Amino acid sequence: MSASKLILSVCLLACFLKRSLSKDQQQITVKTGDNVTLQCLDPRGGDIKLLQWRRQDLKDEGYVYYYKGRPRIKDYQHSSFQDRVELVDPEMKNGNVSVTLKNVIINDTGTYECYVASGDRTELISNITLTVRVSGDAGGDKDGNVGLKVGLSVVALIVGVGVLLVL
Ligand SMILES: *[C@@H]1O[C@H](CO)[C@@H](O)[C@H](O)[C@H]1NC(C)=O
Ligand SMILES: *[C@@H]1O[C@H](CO)[C@@H](O)[C@H](O)[C@H]1NC(C)=O
Ligand SMILES: *[C@@H]1O[C@H](CO)[C@@H](O)[C@H](O)[C@H]1NC(C)=O
Ligand SMILES: *[C@@H]1O[C@H](CO)[C@@H](O)[C@H](O)[C@H]1NC(C)=O
Repeated sequence: MSASKLILSVCLLACFLKRSLSKDQQQITVKTGDNVTLQCLDPRGGDIKLLQWRRQDLKDEGYVYYYKGRPRIKDYQHSSFQDRVELVDPEMKNGNVSVTLKNVIINDTGTYECYVASGDRTELISNITLTVRVSGDAGGDKDGNVGLKVGLSVVALIVGVGVLLVL
């Protein structure tokens, strides 16, 4: 009993440390139909030469958002993101290259990486794990199960922590 409690504590602590050490790592959960802002602030400030928002699993198929010199988005943008992604600050002042993804669908679930070239170096600035769950109740269809599974594992984690606190 106490051994398992110790192991659980160590696991939770490890997760917590891992999360807090990588400061540009974000986790966001939204509902279908929401508009979500994906935050990315380049600490080097302005003069953005190149901006690439990528989704990890679509690597070779196009970008979530692409900017180089002037926006030529459609040439490089993945079709599922066309007309749905906008810069929060169109002037990208102070390295603010956050984007809003509108009207999210279940398939938007994934890992979003923000790469910025400023000066002569391209760097990963933000790495965001976005989870989209079905809005409203039940869902029931195939897509809904993804959100349900994520939801259940969150519940399991909360229950686990609760049990730990009671022991
Ligand atoms: C998302 O943004 C669009 C316009 O940009 C707006 O019409 C819509 O109501 C917003 N949706 C939500 C859920 O806020
Ligand atoms: C980026 O710009 C938007 C719009 O001006 C603002 O609401 C947001 O707070 C800015 N983000 C940061 C991190 O400065
Ligand atoms: C969601 O993704 C799956 C697999 O990638 C695809 O088969 C399906 O058509 C997509 N659904 C929508 C609504 O884009
Ligand atoms: C971004 O985060 C995901 C999930 O934590 C990880 O799998 C991925 O390797 C990260 N991307 C980069 C470029 O470090």
